[in-house]
Amino acid sequence: MRTLVRVEEVVRETPSMVTLRFSYPAPALPGQFVMVWVPGDDEVPMSLSYREDGSPKGITVKVMGSTSRHLTELKVGDRIGIRGPYGNHFPLDGNRVLVVGGGSGTAALAPAAEAAHARGARVDVALGAVTAAELLFRDRLRRIAGDLQVSTDDGSEGHHGFVTALVGPMLASARYDAVWTCGPEIMMSKVMAAAKPLSVPVFGSMERIMKCAINLCDACSLGPYHVCADGPVFTHVQLEGLEDFGRYKRSMAGLRIPV
Ligand SMILES: Cc1cc2nc3c(=O)[nH]c(=O)nc-3n(C[C@H](O)[C@H](O)[C@H](O)COP(=O)(O)OP(=O)(O)OC[C@H]3O[C@@H](n4cnc5c(N)ncnc54)[C@H](O)[C@@H]3O)c2cc1C
Ligand code: FES
Repeated sequence: MRTLVRVEEVVRETPSMVTLRFSYPAPALPGQFVMVWVPGDDEVPMSLSYREDGSPKGITVKVMGSTSRHLTELKVGDRIGIRGPYGNHFPLDGNRVLVVGGGSGTAALAPAAEAAHARGARVDVALGAVTAAELLFRDRLRRIAGDLQVSTDDGSEGHHGFVTALVGPMLASARYDAVWTCGPEIMMSKVMAAAKPLSVPVFGSMERIMKCAINLCDACSLGPYHVCADGPVFTHVQLEGLEDFGRYKRSMAGLRIPV
């Protein structure tokens, strides 16, 4: 059932990303997503980038096409429809976690990183973006990270290159209980490759087209899984065996297309 909520706060995070805050009382776990309906437009899945009880929840939207653009153009007082939260979540255990975020994928990771920090875990962060201005939640994550390292594709801040280059040295420098990652699938598959020799479990949050979000329509199929119900967070063991991981996704028409 969809609830109409009022946008209470709009925060321009980066040139391409905007956070919308709204009151929506349903409890949510770190990594879960909601379906967001823009009146007069479509409904899209969005990770909760703020999920705490007692404060407004939030989504952080990157402009991709018409619905996401519409969302980033909303003003305080505008209404959107929310249903959910849906899906599973990042694990709630582990004493030392490495969080690897690429672009808008960091939206799903920030609440998980904060939750881990709040229960006393050490959280280190590798944060990547195309350019310095697009580094999402750098200051928010710096407040809780034991070690925060940054990369940009154009070298405007931190390591010049992909965030995956930071992961190997960080993994080699300490014993991690888990790696949590969200971003382009090629990035997540490289993170898994770096963690494998060290036997560190990796949990990656996946994106696929979603329509029902309640395990009915098959739009979000990924091998034997439905991302809306079995995910969005999958283990490296689940993802490694999938022919589609890092290679194919489904279009809105259900066709298999390259990621
Ligand atoms: C679990 C999950 C969490 C997500 N979290 C975020 C987030 O925190 N921030 C964010 O900016 N984006 C997130 N997305 C992606 C987002 O749902 C849309 O893909 C994106 O906003 C583009 O939608 P559009 O209609 O503007 O673009 P369009 O131009 O219509 O589509 C661009 C591409 O977006 C994808 N897309 C469009 N509609 C959907 C849909 N209903 N479901 C999934 N993919 C779709 C398709 O791959 C399409 O090729 C998430 C997706 C999933 C599945
Ligand atoms: S979106 Fe319908 S089954 Fe997952």
